[in-house]
Amino acid sequence: MTASPVSLPLLFQPLTLRDTTFPNRATVAPMCQYAATDGFAGDWHLVHLGGLAKGGFGAVMTEAAAVLPEGRITHGDIGLWSDAHAEALRPAIDFIRSCGALAGIQLAHAGRKASMQRPWFGNGALGAEDRARGDMPWEIKGASAMPVSDGWLVPKEMDRTDIALLVQAFADAATRADRLGCDFVEIHGAHGYLLQTFLSPLSNDRTDAYGGDLKGRMRLALEVAEAVRGVWPAGKPLFFRISSIDGFEGGWEISDSVILAGELKALGVDVIDCSSGGNQGRTRITDGRMLGLGFQLDYSAEIRTKVDIATQGVGMILDGPQAEAALEAGQADLIAIGRQALYDPFWLRHQAYEMGVNDFGTWPDQYGWWLDRRERSIQAIRESRI
Ligand SMILES: Cc1cc2nc3c(=O)[nH]c(=O)nc-3n(C[C@H](O)[C@H](O)[C@H](O)COP(=O)(O)O)c2cc1C
Repeated sequence: MTASPVSLPLLFQPLTLRDTTFPNRATVAPMCQYAATDGFAGDWHLVHLGGLAKGGFGAVMTEAAAVLPEGRITHGDIGLWSDAHAEALRPAIDFIRSCGALAGIQLAHAGRKASMQRPWFGNGALGAEDRARGDMPWEIKGASAMPVSDGWLVPKEMDRTDIALLVQAFADAATRADRLGCDFVEIHGAHGYLLQTFLSPLSNDRTDAYGGDLKGRMRLALEVAEAVRGVWPAGKPLFFRISSIDGFEGGWEISDSVILAGELKALGVDVIDCSSGGNQGRTRITDGRMLGLGFQLDYSAEIRTKVDIATQGVGMILDGPQAEAALEAGQADLIAIGRQALYDPFWLRHQAYEMGVNDFGTWPDQYGWWLDRRERSIQAIRESRI
């Protein structure tokens, strides 16, 4: 058994936001599974999300849940547009919370990136093979009648009625998330999906109040944040995920993100989840950083410092010491782990062990008791061999 360290690394320390305490600083990043049927979560979501909660993450966020059926990226996305869809998520949410982790849902609308193939079927527009599979395309709506790029669908520009319905749909989905017992929700405002296409000058050529200058382009994101905060309990944190930069000339810049984060903070958003890119369908980072280790942490640090708001850092954070260095340097308050969590659902517990802070008492009883004895056996074998 490893002795308790004098000072616990920040990664393993709790963080309280409003009345909600994250047991540690490691969260699971939202990750679409494309495993739903007609928007309903099923066994895969329970086992996938439940496994990550077992793995010791302080918070587990679901993948993007569409607030309207046409806001799904693919036929495999989960939805939160009806009470029945929310109930389908209940086993996973209950299980996450039973493990002592916080449960969150990401609320989303795919905009012009809706009605696509699941990645492993090509990640393009739905075609003849998909129709044969029963995956019919649907009419998509977006900020402007502009496709992501060649070969992508052209959305219908959303009118005022569409926008009003959308804002209400985000609020209704948040109400359902609260009734499910979720501890936090995140508004998806990143990666070229609907809200981000309103924000970016590369994808918004509207001439009404929702386009034009930065104020106009931010209007919808702020209306959604205000509507969600209006129904979301005061004691529970609200996250907002942004693309900190587009990564293309003439696009959304970090200075825009700083302004947006300030406005979101004023509306009661608690955490800015700092991602980047996706507006043009792929990410080209123009400042030379090119997707290196922790490549988005500088954006998180800048927003955290300039706006004085909590941030979540994400992107190519591979191990505990790297996460700990980011937290200690003040680059973020929470660290979201994506693909490493798929690779190793027990990521946090394994990092704890490597960093010398593990005792198996923190594992679920069903595993910890045995692992403690296993560890002692291994030690004994090693010592007898020396
Ligand atoms: C399979 C998969 C699905 C994803 N789905 C979402 C999603 O639903 N919402 C979202 O905001 N980001 C999504 N992302 C992006 C991740 O949340 C994360 O930001 C990204 O993978 C970078 O973190 P990583 O390097 O730790 O994987 C997804 C990523 C992966 C790998």
